[in-house]
Amino acid sequence: MEYTREDLLARLRDRGTGTAEFRAASDGLARLLRAEAVGRLGEGAEADDGRGVLLAPVIRAGLALLPAFMDALPGARVGMVGVERDERTATPRVYYEKLPIGGSDALPAKAVILDPMLATGGSACYVAGLLMGRGMRAEDVHFVGVLAAQEGLERLASVVPRGNITLAAVDPGLDARKFIVPGIGDYGDRYFGTAD
Ligand code: PRP
Repeated sequence: MEYTREDLLARLRDRGTGTAEFRAASDGLARLLRAEAVGRLGEGAEADDGRGVLLAPVIRAGLALLPAFMDALPGARVGMVGVERDERTATPRVYYEKLPIGGSDALPAKAVILDPMLATGGSACYVAGLLMGRGMRAEDVHFVGVLAAQEGLERLASVVPRGNITLAAVDPGLDARKFIVPGIGDYGDRYFGTAD
């Protein structure tokens, strides 16, 4: 049976969904989002195998979206950035960065930042800024996520074109801890089975 985006999102939002079911729903949703996002890359994606595309998952939760995109774009380069939000200030802290751009590495035609959650937008904007700081044009930087808060979406859309942002849903706001409401909870913890 084929699940719709709404079915899969409802399973992710449900607090009762355990690790295995959460992963299955996330993987299914990643495949649906991929179809839309790859279509948005247009000609710049070059060869059918995705050569010319840089996939940039934001560690840790962004790794949940990576396999679906690697399947569709088997020739894509993958560059990773480890970003963790400070629990008190909700500002991003970068602890790892391996983006194969600049120096002897050719500029990709398109980059796709992967991160299921866009809350304040700080993490995604930081990674977009890194890519643009190495010479990428804003119009060639894409973002794929599962859920955004309206304010995070607006912040990212002030940095890259709104048409380059693919999401399953947008929620109205953030709570005092800067978690999306109603939200999904901590996506990384739920996907990787490290929730309490
Ligand atoms: C979450 C999420 C994003 C970020 C979103 O990561 O995966 O990277 O927060 O928030 P922002 O839009 O306000 O920057 P988290 O810090 O929980 O790290 P994790 O992926 O390692 O669990």
